[in-house]
Amino acid sequence: MTIPFLDLQAINHEYADELKAACARVIDSGWYLMGEELSRFEADFADYCAVTHAVGVGNGLDALTLVIRAWKEQGKLRDGDEVIVQHNTFIATLAAIIENGLTPVLVDTDLTTFNLDVGAVAAAITGKTRLIVPVHLYGQLAPMPEIMALARQHGLLVLEDCAQAHGASLQGRKAGSWGDAGAFSFYPGKNLGALGDGGAVVCNDAALATLVRALGNYGSRIKYQHEYAGVNSRLDEIQAAILRVKLARLDADTERRRLIAERFTAQIHNPLINVPRATHREGHVWHLFVVTCRCRDALKDYLTERGIQTNIHYPLAIAEHPPYRHLTIPTRAQEAAQNQQILSIPLYHTLSDAAQVHLIDALNHFGSAQ
Ligand SMILES: Cc1ncc(COP(=O)(O)O)c(C=O)c1O
Repeated sequence: MTIPFLDLQAINHEYADELKAACARVIDSGWYLMGEELSRFEADFADYCAVTHAVGVGNGLDALTLVIRAWKEQGKLRDGDEVIVQHNTFIATLAAIIENGLTPVLVDTDLTTFNLDVGAVAAAITGKTRLIVPVHLYGQLAPMPEIMALARQHGLLVLEDCAQAHGASLQGRKAGSWGDAGAFSFYPGKNLGALGDGGAVVCNDAALATLVRALGNYGSRIKYQHEYAGVNSRLDEIQAAILRVKLARLDADTERRRLIAERFTAQIHNPLINVPRATHREGHVWHLFVVTCRCRDALKDYLTERGIQTNIHYPLAIAEHPPYRHLTIPTRAQEAAQNQQILSIPLYHTLSDAAQVHLIDALNHFGSAQ
């Protein structure tokens, strides 16, 4: 049996008729950018996240970059300001900070949730800190009540990186509605994935939303009048139409993911493998199911031999990449070790029962079968 790490064909096949109808509607409309589909998706997505504004942009990186850029335009951030961010995120979070001339300060994460460690955040705050960027890594909300309390106490902005956590919620509040703004990616493999690139900024601040929209449209609110030095970063009509179809079923898909994750956590009981747990059921949307194992590479090879594709999110620490070598890595030795131990195993809502059984069985026999 072969189990791909992700099966986008199977995932999108479930929506095939509706997706084709949505594309046909856009093709026939003759209107391909900044039209009805985008405004409707933005309204639906803002509603879904329980915020007043959503602005579609070209991708998740741009969503992060444009919010920071907008805060610079508003004078809320300046070159050289320090930004607290976790060390184990995807490179895009760092790229958005550095591209804007701000200084990332990498901090430790909680070893069980992989999310920001509030104590580490508090310890990293200096007179130059202006922004915290919690990343809801692997689909689990960061400890937002504590992070927001800390941010308010020190007068800091908070930008949630929600690229992996569409629909995760805590105390009834969704990802993206906790901070001063949230940034989403609709990269095809995300829980809410387009059929190409896409992203969105969400917030409860009309002025910020207007500014982000202008910055992503050549700094223009009125055609051919450019108030800001902007870029071209727009969510096109076809992707917006596709996302409307998939958003309507996101909660149902997430529930299927949760049930699979719960089965994995209940049934994988190999002492060599640590399985992840959700701190709160609704707080985790299981974008990735990341186990840890001291002999991770052997486990990866063993699973490959059994037809199970795995992945590592992420194999190198940020400061191991040439452009980011100047950044200091957190010193906690355990943290560095975590990088050598993480392994993402397949988890998506179309994963068949047989595949789930094969996976659980393989993981439970690791070590004894060798
Ligand atoms: C945590 C995180 N932030 C940002 C991004 C960037 O999103 P995109 O690839 O759409 O630019 C991603 C995903 O790719 C991500 O996982």
